[in-house]
Amino acid sequence: MKPTVLVLCGGKSAERLVSLVSAQCVVAHVPRKFRVRLVHIGADGGWAEVAAAKLLRERPADLHRGGAALTRLRAGSRRVDPWKLLNSLGRRDCVFPVLHGPMGEDGTIQGLMELTGVAYVGCGVLGSAAGMDKEATKRVCASAGIPQVPWAVARTPAEAAAAAKKLGYPVFVKPARMGSSVGVVKVKSPAKIAAALREALRYDDKALIEKGLPIREIETAVLGDPWAPRGKMSLRASVCAEIKPNAEYYDYNAKYLNPNGASFEIPARIPAMVTARVRAVALAAFRALDLYGLARADFFVHKTTGAVYFNEPNTLPGFTPASMYPRLWRESGVPTTRLVETLVALGLRRAAARRRISVNH
Ligand SMILES: Nc1ncnc2c1ncn2[C@@H]1O[C@H](COP(=O)(O)OP(=O)(O)O)[C@@H](O)[C@H]1O
Ligand SMILES: [Mg+2]
Repeated sequence: MKPTVLVLCGGKSAERLVSLVSAQCVVAHVPRKFRVRLVHIGADGGWAEVAAAKLLRERPADLHRGGAALTRLRAGSRRVDPWKLLNSLGRRDCVFPVLHGPMGEDGTIQGLMELTGVAYVGCGVLGSAAGMDKEATKRVCASAGIPQVPWAVARTPAEAAAAAKKLGYPVFVKPARMGSSVGVVKVKSPAKIAAALREALRYDDKALIEKGLPIREIETAVLGDPWAPRGKMSLRASVCAEIKPNAEYYDYNAKYLNPNGASFEIPARIPAMVTARVRAVALAAFRALDLYGLARADFFVHKTTGAVYFNEPNTLPGFTPASMYPRLWRESGVPTTRLVETLVALGLRRAAARRRISVNH
């Protein structure tokens, strides 16, 4: 019997519909040596096994809207008990969580998979959680000497005002554990700082205050096992892309609502030395944050000084055909089927390594 790749899609986060389009792309590119099974996690958290072929029949634009496409996908589906399902998988099987944002990208689902001992694609519990929390990302990267823009954490208006004054305006105020630019506000004067903090605290109980710099936005895709010696599985970074938002910054509207919200340049037209620095820092940040398998690494490059700043990792980046992560690898000579095959092989490799370490004394 062929080993199984179990794709998880949906979830509770705001990005649950994007996840369906990402999952469609993953399902379409699972190598034929595997059997594909698909589980949709509903907004209520319930798991239902659905026919993978049904997902492939949907148009991405319909999936993005949810509604009828979601009803068709769920029709005739079978509710499954997550614990029993994961425990029923064997050593040659692997889970591919195609879940973006909280409850998918933040270590929670990864914890469930660790408990059952099943192999899974992508970062583990610590890396996923550290990558989701901007304060944790900043602290770990600072201790590893990764270059970052000046930052502070604030929970109260007084803390936010003091931090902004010290950093100098403009500043960016962001919820610590969000994404997609949700709750991110650029603040140009002290009069607006309290309102910006209120907005960020709608999504979290702490906010990041960052110095706003004149920057270009550069991304690279990272793939591999950070601790593997040279070879097929070793850690590498793709070519770089530049994101050019048609707005003051890359906000939610430019990311998702406005079809002309941003343009992309692949490879990014930046000096070779900057490209080399971005790729090297991406690998260093990946190791420092204890990431595994994959992450998209997002950078800021100062428009005048050329200084490179690490912004954030995305440990389950968008995986739609138009998404940066698979695109960057295609541009680097890795077709998407080979990418999915490598990601699954990495997941199986980590699970095998884990089994060799005894948890009982
Ligand atoms: N310090 C900064 N200086 C300039 N622009 C910034 C800064 N921080 C964020 N931005 C802008 O805001 C966007 C969203 O911020 P980001 O930290 O990436 O949050 P998210 O996790 O929601 O993607 C960035 O892509 C960039 O356009
Ligand atoms: Mg971002």
